[in-house]
Formats: sequence, C-alpha cells, structure tokens
Amino acid sequence: MRLFTTIAGLRCHLERHRTQKTVGLVPTMGALHPGHLTLIERARRENAIVVVSIFVNPLQFGPGEDLQQYPRQLEEDQRFCQQAGVDVIFAPTAVELYGDDPSDSDILTEFTQVQPPPAMTSILCGHSRPGHFQGVATVVTKLLNLVQPDRAYFGQKDAQQLAIIRRLVADLNIPVTIVSCSIAREPSGLAYSSRNQYLTPAQKAQAPILYKGLQNAQNVFQAGERDRTSLIAAVTSELSWIEEIQVEYIELVHPTTLIPLEQVEDQGLLAIAARLGSTRLIDNSLLRNR
Ligand code: PAJ
Repeated sequence: MRLFTTIAGLRCHLERHRTQKTVGLVPTMGALHPGHLTLIERARRENAIVVVSIFVNPLQFGPGEDLQQYPRQLEEDQRFCQQAGVDVIFAPTAVELYGDDPSDSDILTEFTQVQPPPAMTSILCGHSRPGHFQGVATVVTKLLNLVQPDRAYFGQKDAQQLAIIRRLVADLNIPVTIVSCSIAREPSGLAYSSRNQYLTPAQKAQAPILYKGLQNAQNVFQAGERDRTSLIAAVTSELSWIEEIQVEYIELVHPTTLIPLEQVEDQGLLAIAARLGSTRLIDNSLLRNR
C-alpha cells in the first residue's frame, strides 16, 4: 500500500500503474469505521486498484461546526486500509489541495467552487448547513479529476450528498460510475459515523432511537401507508420516548431529486437529523415497494 500526500506523487503513481486497469475511489474524511469498510470492500471486489482519499475538507464545515474537533487519526486509518487491501491512500493537506490556507476566508471568494442546484442544497441538511454541499461538491469534483476513477463509492447514509453527487456527475459529464452502498449499522441499529465518537455512553444508548423511528415508518409503509404526514408521524412517535433528542428535521423527499413528497408514488426517502447534546446525527430509510 502506498500513501501519497501530494498531487504530483498520486498522479505519477496512477499514471504508471493504471494501464488497462480499473480504478475505484472511496472518498472519506478519515476516522475510518465499519461503514467506510463496506465501501472499501465493494471497491476492492470491483476494481484492480483501490484508492481511498482521507481529507477533512475545510470547505464543507460552516462557522461554529466541528472542523477543529473532527477526529484525525491517519496512522490508525493507514492500518485499517492496509488490512482492507487498499492500494493507495491519498491524504493531502488543505494547502496541497487548495493551494492556499483555507482557514483564510479569501479562499471562499477567490477559488472556483462547484455549486449544486439550490433546490437540492436548500432542504434537509442544507437548512442548517449553508455552503456545506457546495464544499462537498467542490472537493468531490477535485478528487474525481485527480484520481479519474472508473467507479467512485458513496454511502446511502449521506443520502442527500449521494443524490447531489449523482446529479453533479451527470450535469458536468464526469466520466465515472457512482456506486451507492447501503447503510452499515452497529448491532443496536445506530448507523456508524465518525461523529459517534462524540457521544457519551448514555447518549450512545439513546441514539438507536433514530433507527427505531425509521423502522416504525418502514413498517407502516409496508402495511400500505403512503401519506407524508402519517409516515413522518410514525418516526416522531418513537422519538418522543427520548426527551434529550432534539429533532432538526424529519422529511419525506424523492431520493433522486430531493423534491418534498406529499405521497410516495414509486419511492421515497425518509430522512432525519437530530441532536443528542451537541452531536448531530443523521439517518434515513428508503421507502420502496418490496
Ligand atoms: P465521510 O463522512 O468520511 O464518509 C465517507 C463515505 O462513507 C461517504 O460516502 C459516507 O456516506 C460513507 N459512510 C459513512 N458512514 C456510513 C455508514 N454507516 N454506512 C455506509 N456508508 C457510510 O462523506 C464524507 O466523508 C465527505 O463529505 C466526503 C464525501 C469525503 C467529501 O469530503
């Protein structure tokens, strides 16, 4: 396994090794966990060369968010990748990737960024995280241009991110196949997340209620319910058991367009964001006829 921190090193290596071989890219912000592993394993099965990028992207963090606290553990991540059979880690610094210090706010006005359709970024997480998806779209476009993979792997856990990236790749004609991977969960039902490290043991015991709420809605949906209000109510009724949960949103949207739905016709995405203390958790469930 090779680790590159420079663009030149990465490009030179890939140029020499990729001839006639397929390349799979798994973009991450590190602090790797079993959720990331499902993406890496799928990439391993489907490609000759697997590249994992590890980069805590300052552009996608808003003021007052957890950019400084976000877990950084490159050595552990390297061991994790080695065991998972990764070929290349790309772990650039922010200066290497953006050519400037991104904590300097000038970068926001002087740097070309990719702006996804406002209809997709103004809802769900976009409400409370203005600029977040522009930061994601910008870094993902850069990573796709740098690695030029045949396939890139993203988790259904971040369903809004996935929909925006699919749209970005289609709109900008980026020659890559986006592969989505289902949500990996702890035995409790809690979706794995690098941010779960912030939870106290008591909060960790409460957090699976998000999934219980979504499961409740899934059951109601499978029993024939298609109405927005009733499906959302099925989630809310579970969450009300835990006082400490502060719900940011529970929304029913179309999984591809993210347009809010009154009724599920073919498919729906039921998405939730909530805080436990200062930790923000997201989760979702795809509603489809079985
Ligand atoms: P990060 O949060 O590190 O997640 C990297 C990838 O792992 C994303 O595609 C995410 O959806 C997926 N993932 C995380 N937890 C998962 C889980 N429990 N089950 C399945 N997949 C999971 O998402 C980002 O980083 C960044 O926004 C990034 C795309 C790297 C751009 O900076």
